Amino acid sequence: MCGIIGVLGNHEAAPILVEALKRLEYRGYDSAGIATVNRGALARRRAVGKLANLSDLLVHEPLAGKSGIGHTRWATHGAPTVGNAHPHKAGSVAVVHNGIIENFKELREELSHKDIRFSTDTDTETVALLCGYHMSQGLDPVDAARTTMRALEGAFALAFLFEGHEDLMIATRKGSPLAIGHGDGEMFVGSDAIALAPFTDQITYLEEDDFAVLTRSSLTIWDKHDMLANRDMRQIVLESARVDKDGHKHFMAKEIAEQPVALDRALNAYTNTSGDITLPEELDFTKIERLTMVACGTAYYACMVAKYWFETIARLPVEVDVASEFRYREPPVPAGTLALFVSQSGETADTLAALRYMEGKAHQIAGLVNVAESSIARGSDVVLPLHAGPEISVASTKAFTCQLTVLLMLAIRAAQQRGMALPEGMPADLRSLPGLIHQALATEQQVKSSSRDLAKAQDIIFLGRGQLYPLALEGALKLKELSYIHAEGYASGELKHGPIALIDEKVPVVVLAPRDALFEKTVSNMQEVMARGGKVILVTDAEGARLAGEGTHEVIVMPQVPNTLAPILYAIPAQQIAYFTAIAKGTDVDQPRNLAKSVTVE
Ligand code: M6R
Repeated sequence: MCGIIGVLGNHEAAPILVEALKRLEYRGYDSAGIATVNRGALARRRAVGKLANLSDLLVHEPLAGKSGIGHTRWATHGAPTVGNAHPHKAGSVAVVHNGIIENFKELREELSHKDIRFSTDTDTETVALLCGYHMSQGLDPVDAARTTMRALEGAFALAFLFEGHEDLMIATRKGSPLAIGHGDGEMFVGSDAIALAPFTDQITYLEEDDFAVLTRSSLTIWDKHDMLANRDMRQIVLESARVDKDGHKHFMAKEIAEQPVALDRALNAYTNTSGDITLPEELDFTKIERLTMVACGTAYYACMVAKYWFETIARLPVEVDVASEFRYREPPVPAGTLALFVSQSGETADTLAALRYMEGKAHQIAGLVNVAESSIARGSDVVLPLHAGPEISVASTKAFTCQLTVLLMLAIRAAQQRGMALPEGMPADLRSLPGLIHQALATEQQVKSSSRDLAKAQDIIFLGRGQLYPLALEGALKLKELSYIHAEGYASGELKHGPIALIDEKVPVVVLAPRDALFEKTVSNMQEVMARGGKVILVTDAEGARLAGEGTHEVIVMPQVPNTLAPILYAIPAQQIAYFTAIAKGTDVDQPRNLAKSVTVE
């Protein structure tokens, strides 16, 4: 979603702002802009589309000044036009915003009674106009911004820049993250540390409702009670903010290829030298009677797989829900509930809101996140970092397999603590995962050739059974988000309860089915598809390929894998199918249309 950057620097701000915005591109955006103060005067440049358009504009209409703010906008209120692009300016203040101002209509109404005119469709302009109004009434910039911030409802991260003030910036947040970077006689603001990494590794994260006043040499923060607050300055590991494709054509290709290493890191983080699974001590499954897992998108599918593991291995009752539903259905929370929130970014608005709902109700709240400094991590009693490394491509890949791996380790540890017998080979077999993933990646050429055919389809169906059912959902999600082809995932056994009506020779059916106890049943479902002219692309192992018999359109042969690990391994072809189909269609792999990496609004 929207990205924010701000600088009070010693060099020209415009190139710094554009470079930082490039590092925020991964969040998804459809317009961009910057504003600077130069010799007291506030000016801005904005452009629709990719950042290259803003850079071109700046070549023809440069912006001087060493203080500035910048923004990548993912449209919520109003189309992606230059007029709606940030920064928004009113009188002598310019504002950039991430989030949604929920009471903007009421505020607009109030301002229009004061004869204040609006020129955009955005909620953000209200913030600029309100602040401008308070300044016109005699408040200084700090008090005007503070009064404005207190009037806002919703979720926001905001940075304010003021005409006539080259050594002043205001940053405030509620619901959306914001980081302050400390330079050498310089100060920065950014949506995340990744944006600030080229300039500084000294970061202060603002907390909920913080109001910060920055100069080049000082940072003063007030908390939600308007009390001066001390916030730690942390040194971030710059490697963790590295953003490059490392020779790959896309971030997604790099992140798919990185999975053996990422999984190895995740395994090491939760295993001791004897190979035993080690979890934070406070996570004690003997005290847990029920597990509630909540997440969105791909992270939700990871939870669906984990439900199979927790129920079959640890015999623990599990509830799984998408955060946007969970948060509003006011579920009762039985005693002894562990609430587990799974999120790559740790900032997904719905997941965070669901976590807030569970505060004071659940026995314990745990967060399984990739971004260790995120809001979900900070709101959790127990934080379980994924160790996947920065995931830049909008499509989640290595975070998903790391989520699965850590969730499986949790389920195994839960089984051990609850005195349940483990599946044969567990936990030792976990160590084979990086090698197996490495082998699975080698099916790339086969997947590539199947994907050329898939790219011609208008509808594609994914099927899976048992713990592979969520993988069918994940395969379909990944395919639609990257290639814009309509795809649906179904539990194989559900096919004849409706979806089979869709099958004809134009609808390819991707079947994810390792040879397991239910394989024969899936073969029957495949026969039903083929009998109706459907083209089956079977992803299975050598034994499955042998047993499947004649008639499949293509078979992608995966390495043999212990049953429990199959969902982790079969994520690879699901990701590769989406990737190569998108390449064949020529879509924007890393930044698919309309999508944002981190969904910080409802
Ligand atoms: O950061 P999160 O894991 O909370 O994000 C959840 C979803 O928005 C995310 O998984 C989304 O579905 C991805 N684009 C899928 O590739």
